[in-house]
Amino acid sequence: MGVLAVKLVYSVFSAMCIFCCSSMQLVHPLTMKLQANETDMMALLAIKAQIQHDPNQVTSSWNDSIHFCSWYGVTCSQRHQQRVSKLNLSSQGLAGSISPHIGNLSFLRGICLYNNTFTHEIPPEIGSLHRLQVLLLHNNSFTGHIPPNVSNCFNLTFLSLGRNKLVGEIPSQLGFLSKLQILVLQGNYLTGEIPSSLGNLS
Ligand SMILES: *[C@@H]1O[C@H](CO)[C@@H](O)[C@H](O)[C@H]1NC(C)=O
Ligand SMILES: *[C@@H]1O[C@H](CO)[C@@H](O)[C@H](O)[C@H]1NC(C)=O
Ligand SMILES: *[C@@H]1O[C@H](CO)[C@@H](O)[C@H](O)[C@H]1NC(C)=O
Ligand SMILES: *[C@@H]1O[C@H](CO)[C@@H](O)[C@H](O)[C@H]1NC(C)=O
Ligand SMILES: *[C@@H]1O[C@H](CO)[C@@H](O)[C@H](O)[C@H]1NC(C)=O
Ligand SMILES: *[C@@H]1O[C@H](CO)[C@@H](O)[C@H](O)[C@H]1NC(C)=O
Ligand SMILES: *[C@@H]1O[C@H](CO)[C@@H](O)[C@H](O)[C@H]1NC(C)=O
Ligand SMILES: *[C@@H]1O[C@H](CO)[C@@H](O)[C@H](O)[C@H]1NC(C)=O
Repeated sequence: MGVLAVKLVYSVFSAMCIFCCSSMQLVHPLTMKLQANETDMMALLAIKAQIQHDPNQVTSSWNDSIHFCSWYGVTCSQRHQQRVSKLNLSSQGLAGSISPHIGNLSFLRGICLYNNTFTHEIPPEIGSLHRLQVLLLHNNSFTGHIPPNVSNCFNLTFLSLGRNKLVGEIPSQLGFLSKLQILVLQGNYLTGEIPSSLGNLS
């Protein structure tokens, strides 16, 4: 892909991430039930615990003083009001690893963590997120392999892992992602062939 095309794809992603996360303000804290289901709060706190560098202190709002649905970058579902539907912490200079507890946020539809400095592996637990449609992790420092378990996210339409330090082969299981529309893997250290299964992604 040429530089121009890559830039184009990235601006599409930025626009889309704004779209995917723009309903953030729609759920007002006062409309939420008083008795909170704390499953997602525990997962978010586990994610926060593994963020080692937060120069803009965006996760300092992730505390008891406000409901977790109002924490910075967190959007809750309108139908399931105590459940997180989007996580948008893009371009915040964050460093650390992504907690495997992210796989407990089972109502997530969008993850936007691109343009930070996250390291370590992409947690395979993301494969538990069956509602996930958008996964944007590009421009970080993720290492290890592309987890084949991502192919369990059967509703995924946008998968962007470009500009990381990923190694190994492209998992052929990505060919199971029948709804996939955009796949960005450039700028890694991937080896091997492009799996023929990707030809199934019409
Ligand atoms: C929270 O939600 C999960 C998944 O929907 C459910 O299994 C659990 O029982 C709920 N907990 C409470 C306290 O409502
Ligand atoms: C908790 O979050 C609130 C809301 O963002 C913030 O004003 C407060 O400083 C935070 N408390 C701590 C201890 O970080
Ligand atoms: C979500 O991410 C986009 C793209 O970086 C950003 O422009 C927007 O401000 C973010 N929204 C919130 C509420 O953080
Ligand atoms: C990436 O983040 C930096 C700050 O860390 C910001 O200056 C830059 O505009 C961001 N790029 C995109 C494409 O959001
Ligand atoms: C949350 O995720 C972790 C790591 O995958 C797991 O060990 C734990 O059992 C999960 N907790 C709940 C309540 O599902
Ligand atoms: C990638 O992220 C870094 C900050 O982590 C930022 O300085 C840089 O501009 C970003 N690159 C692109 C192409 O967005
Ligand atoms: C990965 O997916 C397989 C099924 O495809 C499952 O058995 C396994 O538990 C998953 N691993 C994690 C860490 O979620
Ligand atoms: C998958 O996405 C479609 C729309 O794109 C939606 O109707 C369906 O409920 C989603 N499935 C899950 C499990 O979220």
